Amino acid sequence: MDGGLVMTGIVIAIDGPAGTGKSTVAREVARRLKLSYFDTGATYRVGTLWCLREGVDLTNKDDVAAMVATMNVQLVMNPDNPSIVLDGEDVSRLIRSDTVALSVSKVATNLDARAILGQWQKDVIAAEREGGYSEGRGVVAEGRDITTIIAPDADVRVLMTADEDVRVARRAGEGADAATVREAVLGRDKQDATVVEFHTAADGVVTVDTTDLTIEEAVQAVLTLAKQSS
Ligand code: DC
Repeated sequence: MDGGLVMTGIVIAIDGPAGTGKSTVAREVARRLKLSYFDTGATYRVGTLWCLREGVDLTNKDDVAAMVATMNVQLVMNPDNPSIVLDGEDVSRLIRSDTVALSVSKVATNLDARAILGQWQKDVIAAEREGGYSEGRGVVAEGRDITTIIAPDADVRVLMTADEDVRVARRAGEGADAATVREAVLGRDKQDATVVEFHTAADGVVTVDTTDLTIEEAVQAVLTLAKQSS
């Protein structure tokens, strides 16, 4: 400790819709700066999986909120191998299944569930700032409301955007047919946008438009902002 000054790690918050390259960029930035990587979408996904497993009606808001409050989940925040463990089982792949993807907006638009998961996310970020996997170096957290609601005091706040067609094409490149992907990407954004704003940057949030950027260029853009913040 230096003259009573408490050193805390850096927090880099990256928001944006699907297909902007946000997850890939967030992970790579975490890797290069040796920070932990926090995919907050995974918290909504694991909550959805847990409710589906327990047979909870996802339209019953109270039941869903009560259920997510009782989950037993551990996050592995190593950017080389991020994973999520539910009741001792690694569910990192399962939370990416179509079943979960098609239902997750019901949990993400449940304001009571959001409050519970949001508090958990704030706690995780605070813990990584002081210790945790990153040993206090800090965290790259990505989602939809990290720059605005979860970590508005983050050292770096980025909104990643890209043209709709480019976002859909990037997801289509990962498999599945174009019409299904268009519906999945834009339909879910529309649902999610009813509770959080992630298309327009809030005050102090830097927009990085990745339409014409390679992943490396987007990574460099965030690394430059991180350097400027220190
Ligand atoms: O980024 P993703 O597809 O894994 O997100 C899963 C869902 O959770 C999606 O419906 C958006 C929502 N989400 C959210 O509302 N707020 C966040 N901070 C992260 C994700």
